[in-house]
Amino acid sequence: MLKFHDDAIELSGETGTKLKSEIIGKYYPLWWEITSGGMYRKYPYTTTIIEMNAGTGEDYIADSNETILGSSGHALNLKSTNPNTEKLNVILVEEDPQCYTHLLNVIKRNWPNLTYSKNPFENNEEDVFLLRNRSEIFDIVEQLRLGNSLFFFDPLLYTPWSEINKVARKRITDYYQTRTEFIVFLFTSDWFSGRGDLTPLPQTSQKESWGSEEVETVAKAQDLFGYDKSWMDHLLNSKPNEDKIEKMVSLYRNLLHGWFRYVLPMPFEPKVNQIYHLFMCSNYEVGINITQKFYTKYTRNPPFSPNNKTAYSKFVGLHPEKKMRGSARSDEWKILWEIIRKHDEGICDNACMDLIDIQLDGIFLQESLDWLWTKKYLKEIEHFSHNWDNIPLLYQLDWDYVEETLGITRPLKLMPLSKYNLKDSVSQLQPHDKKGTLEEWF
Ligand SMILES: C[S@@+](CC[C@H](N)C(=O)[O-])C[C@H]1O[C@@H](n2cnc3c(N)ncnc32)[C@H](O)[C@@H]1O
Repeated sequence: MLKFHDDAIELSGETGTKLKSEIIGKYYPLWWEITSGGMYRKYPYTTTIIEMNAGTGEDYIADSNETILGSSGHALNLKSTNPNTEKLNVILVEEDPQCYTHLLNVIKRNWPNLTYSKNPFENNEEDVFLLRNRSEIFDIVEQLRLGNSLFFFDPLLYTPWSEINKVARKRITDYYQTRTEFIVFLFTSDWFSGRGDLTPLPQTSQKESWGSEEVETVAKAQDLFGYDKSWMDHLLNSKPNEDKIEKMVSLYRNLLHGWFRYVLPMPFEPKVNQIYHLFMCSNYEVGINITQKFYTKYTRNPPFSPNNKTAYSKFVGLHPEKKMRGSARSDEWKILWEIIRKHDEGICDNACMDLIDIQLDGIFLQESLDWLWTKKYLKEIEHFSHNWDNIPLLYQLDWDYVEETLGITRPLKLMPLSKYNLKDSVSQLQPHDKKGTLEEWF
């Protein structure tokens, strides 16, 4: 199934692989800059980029006949060319033997001085690791202090839920614990339109009428969703493909919410009528927020910038008891404004780091959330999973109510960059310089 052009994996789509790779190539340095503590603090924190499907480090874009760095190439490039990345670990997993051999060639050719360790890990001094089997990731996670970690799952079609769940369980041991982020790739339209030897999902849930190839696709989809079978009711029908794609994205998002409070699906359109998504998963508002701004900018989606002044005057008009002197603002307003601007989907609870920054005292913070709930700005929602005990109440912003009362329009749905507006894409933008990076994104 995999094709190579010299050492590069052959993949199509300037608005697909090329854009995805360029975005990852710009995102890794930014993520590292932030999670390592940054230039002014001299990068004190350990960080780790883990690629679960590293590929060869290079991608060949058939449409434009060019070879570019793939995601793992960008990770290695960051490690080898930036002198401050001493505390950055790069772990690359590649199970396909051909890909793995090409990866070794790409490393030798591009970064001849780069040293790395292969399993068995002969030298614990190394901070670049090449793994040929994904189960080894658990050994290395035990042996190595990962610090702030970013896991990238980038398979050809999908990653079985059992694998995602296993890695998440290892890393996220407390309720919506921070310091672990996932980026998960999923081909979304192909499940309904077919691709190569993947037959489209059947349009009925009546098993008797499925062909043998449809049975195979259903089994793969079950592998994608794990033990839960409820996806079948939503996706095995004759509704338009766009509706089913949207439903699949929302079902998969909810699955990932079991581990992450924030899950942002970013659509890509490699070809007309073909869509895939990268799901950015984080428990840290800053992480998800930067990704959102980053994607929005590079795909030319309009930024979300609600008007604080107008919304605030409506808020205090409705709740004069919450008006404070001068420029002081009540906790309730500050919390509400933070959720509106920075919480994707408006999901929140009393363990959110940014809300704790507003009100350190957990009892007062919960009182403010209760107040927002009694005033109908927040709805109480069910938890997405049973992964933890002693969990706080989970809320979600009631956007209909916020729109109606405060006159703020909810953020627009993210749209993929199409071939038609490609000319303004990431390659044409100035690469961020170190100084501008944090100022630009915070
Ligand atoms: C989709 S690319 C991504 C590579 C890399 N992240 C990049 O940006 O260049 C190739 C990955 O898909 C994996 N792969 C190959 N065959 C596969 C299959 N049938 N299902 C899922 N993944 C597959 C390869 O082992 C490789 O890790």
